[in-house]
Amino acid sequence: MADRAPHVPVRCHALIPCAGSGSRAGTAGPKQYEPLLGRMLVQHTLDAFLRVPRIASVLVVVAPGDDRMPAGAGYQVVACGGATRAASVAGGLAELQRRGATGADWVLVHDAARCLVTPAQIDRLVDACTGDEVGGLLAQPLADTLKQEDGGRAAATVARQGKWLAQTPQMFRIGLLQRALAAAGDAVTDEASAVEALGLRPLLVPGSPQNFKVTWPDDFALARAVLEARR
Ligand code: CTP
Ligand code: MG
Repeated sequence: MADRAPHVPVRCHALIPCAGSGSRAGTAGPKQYEPLLGRMLVQHTLDAFLRVPRIASVLVVVAPGDDRMPAGAGYQVVACGGATRAASVAGGLAELQRRGATGADWVLVHDAARCLVTPAQIDRLVDACTGDEVGGLLAQPLADTLKQEDGGRAAATVARQGKWLAQTPQMFRIGLLQRALAAAGDAVTDEASAVEALGLRPLLVPGSPQNFKVTWPDDFALARAVLEARR
């Protein structure tokens, strides 16, 4: 691969975009800092990555001026968040390279708000993607019947066969992902869509329905219940 420098071992880094405002969550502040079982939501997210030994480094991207993210062992925080998730990820990738990551290294981009991801799920993605030319993402086959809305009414039923919900982490080579994001612009809501736009086909790796993104007010109670059940 063109990005591979000779004699430099390839590593896996985790990049956690954590610079959103959580406007759909109905919380007073950004959802990633909401308390869940006595800790901030994002700290549960970080725990999962810190328990995967082959993750070489973990970088959390927060918004400029945001000092709510606590310092901790095993991860670093950089305040280079942007106006969109894609901009926050692009800033984090540049920062990873400033800190010594190479274009051939892998990065696992993971939403701070997906606090129920497990070390086993992360390992499954790394196992599936390490030998792959493109990379891939955790995803979940669609369970429900899908409707096309027209003015609050169901206008059509979209065949759900072969449709997946994209989750994170999403794992790509840093160099490839930088090229993909630069070409795709700020509108993409995940890394895979930028890579797809280059004509490549990221691997769909089965995730779990429990790896949902805390998005709506009701999601906090659900996340709390899952974490309680795991204790
Ligand atoms: N994110 C980010 N920078 C942004 C927007 C989002 O780093 N400019 C992060 C969020 O902090 C979150 C992840 O991307 O961890 C997924 O985004 P989303 O669930 O949409 O979070 P928010 O954008 O914060 O929420 P909302 O869309 O409801 O405002
Ligand atoms: Mg958002």
